[in-house]
This record gives sequence, structure tokens and C-alpha cells, in this order.
Amino acid sequence: MDKKEIVLSGIRATGNLHLGNYYGALSKFVKMQQDYDCLYFIADLHALTTNPDPAQLHENVKNILAEYLAAGVDPEQATIFVQSDVPEVSEMYLLLNMHVGIGELMRTTSFKDKARKQLGISTAADSDEEIEKQIIGTNSNKRVNAGLLTYPTLMAVDILIQKATKVPVGKDQEQHLELTRRFARRFNSFYGVDLFPEPENFNFGDHAVKVPGLDGSGKMGKSEGNCIYLVDDEKTIRKKVMKAVTDQGPTEPNQPVSEPVENLFTLMELTSAPEIVTHYRDAYADCSIRYGDLKKQLAEDILKVTLPIRERYQEIRADDEYLARVTRMGAEKARERAAATLAEVKQAMGIRKFY
Ligand code: TYM
Repeated sequence: MDKKEIVLSGIRATGNLHLGNYYGALSKFVKMQQDYDCLYFIADLHALTTNPDPAQLHENVKNILAEYLAAGVDPEQATIFVQSDVPEVSEMYLLLNMHVGIGELMRTTSFKDKARKQLGISTAADSDEEIEKQIIGTNSNKRVNAGLLTYPTLMAVDILIQKATKVPVGKDQEQHLELTRRFARRFNSFYGVDLFPEPENFNFGDHAVKVPGLDGSGKMGKSEGNCIYLVDDEKTIRKKVMKAVTDQGPTEPNQPVSEPVENLFTLMELTSAPEIVTHYRDAYADCSIRYGDLKKQLAEDILKVTLPIRERYQEIRADDEYLARVTRMGAEKARERAAATLAEVKQAMGIRKFY
């Protein structure tokens, strides 16, 4: 039998999962688990970059673990683990950092965005030099921590230590994947080895998913405060969808669609049947659309996805014994492979034992 391709992905432990996480990542986790050799983890070390409250961090790990399981990730098919349960990752993170440039890390979009937020620099219009000056400058007692800077190294290690070739993530993670490929090539060529394959994003369609928010522009994200959570109750979801930003409505046939309305169509394309989307697109084109109807339909279709997950979630999250069993089993499998890769990495780098 052919060996299955290795898939790895993770989600930061920073709260509950929203529809962006679901369509960008989690729904793909479930779809891929039969055909690939899948490892899915909860990125608790990555969550430390924003210095969370310790008690809350553990609760967040538990939330995401229960959400993976409630959404249908099957621990008998896929390896589910907590990042910090695999200490080999932290060790290799130190080693790989020796081949990563601070310049390339500082130019990463997610670093600039997060650093900007931490320093309270609000406008995206600030030049890179200005941001760099503020990050390095001492005129503020706000800090951007080194963990945030080296975030992409840790993510590359998550992937490379398992030698994964497919990484199901949303569009916002593609730059990190590009860096991972670059680090893999660099390591292989520096040491003249063929240790790491180059991973790529995985989507069932042909392009990476970006789930928009309901507030008119941009993506759905926790820090944007525009999320529909998988564990939101029915009333909350209806309310959030009904409040979504729209416009005055089309006044001429085939008028271009504004961003807030296009965002609703995008959400609908992800959650509703194709004929429903066509119906509302046609209604937009001939100006007969009523946004209230579209929103009601959208809320209905979102609930069909989220409510069953919410129901299973409550039960699974309360079952500490089950969660312990799943993560213990996952950690064992993930560690076995990680340890093997780490040994190869050390060998390549010249770290050898006397005993
Ligand atoms: P995180 O925790 O920010 O997000 C988890 C996953 O959800 C996707 N996502 C979205 N996709 C589409 N539209 C959106 N609005 C949206 N919001 C979030 C993200 O693309 C991601 O797939 N660095 C990663 C976690 C990580 C990781 C890894 C992922 C750490 N190591 C190794 C893959 C492999 C992150 O912060 O994702």
C-alpha cells in the first residue's frame, strides 16, 4: 500500500473557534482525515506570544480540543495533540532559529500587524521604518516580545518536524507557509541533506479561503470582534447575522456588488446550497433582492452547520477523562515522529554525543 501523505495543521489556543477557523481549517481537517495521515494540534505555545492569563490558557486549549472533536475530527483516524506535549518542537525551534534572519521575520505581515497592535500604532499607513523604529526604540515601555518575532520559526518547526507536505490553513497563513518552504530549502541546502519536504496549503477548491466578517470589511477574526462562533447559541447567531452591514440595495440591474454585500454572498457560498446562492445573486442582479430575506436564509444555513457542533461540544468538553485519553494517545504518536526528525536535525548540524 502507498504511504499516505502527511498532513499537519494547528489552531492557536486563544478562545473559541469561529466560522473563519471552521472554513479556513477545521472543516478541511475533518474532510482530509480518511485519505491522509493527519496530525492536528492545539497551538498553546503560539498562544503565549500574547501573554495570556495562565488559567485561561488551559481553558482555551480545552475549548479547541473539544471543538475539534465536536466538529468530527476522529482520534482513531487522526493524531490530535497539544503542542506543548511535544517538547521536541521547542528544542528544534531553538535550532532552526539559527538559520532564520531577523529581517525576514520583521517583514512578515502578521508580525507587523500584531506589533502595531501591541504598540498601539493604529493606522496601516505607517511606514515599515516607522514601525521598526518604534519596535526597537526605547521611548515606550510597551514591549513587542521576541516570541512574536520568531512565531514563524515555531510554526515552520511544527510542520517540518512531522515532515508534513500538506497544511490545511486559511489564506492569512500563506505567508507563513512560504517562509516554512524557504527555511526547509535553506536547511537542506546548508547541510547538504534532503531532510525536509516543502509543504503547501491544502484546499478542496482551488484557492485559499478567506472568511469575511459581518461588519462590512476585512476578515472574520477574534481580535476584529466580528465573529460568529461555532458555540454561539441560536439566538446570538440570528442576531449577529441580522445586524450584518449591508448597503442601500441595488438601484440598477447588474450593478457592481459593494464589499459588505459581497461578504454576505461569500458567507452564503460557504454555507448554503448553490441554488440558494444563485437565487440571491439573481435577485441582486434584477434589483428584487431583500437583504432581510437573504440574512434570514444565511442564519438558517449557518445554524445547520454550527448547532450540531455546539451540542456535541458541551458534552465532550465536560468529559475530562476522554480528553486526557485523546491527548495522551496523540502526544505519543506525535512525539515519536518528532523525536526521529530532531535526531536527524542534530546529526546534520553536528550535535553529537560522547556517550
Ligand atoms: P490561527 O489560530 O490564527 O487560525 C487557525 C486557522 O484558522 C484560519 N482562519 C481563517 N481562515 C479563513 N478566514 C478567516 N477569517 C480565518 N481566520 C482564521 C487560519 O488561516 C488558520 O488556518 N499560525 C497559525 C497556527 C499554527 C499552525 C501551525 C497552522 C501554528 N503552527 C502549523 C498550521 C501549521 C495561526 O495562528 O492560526
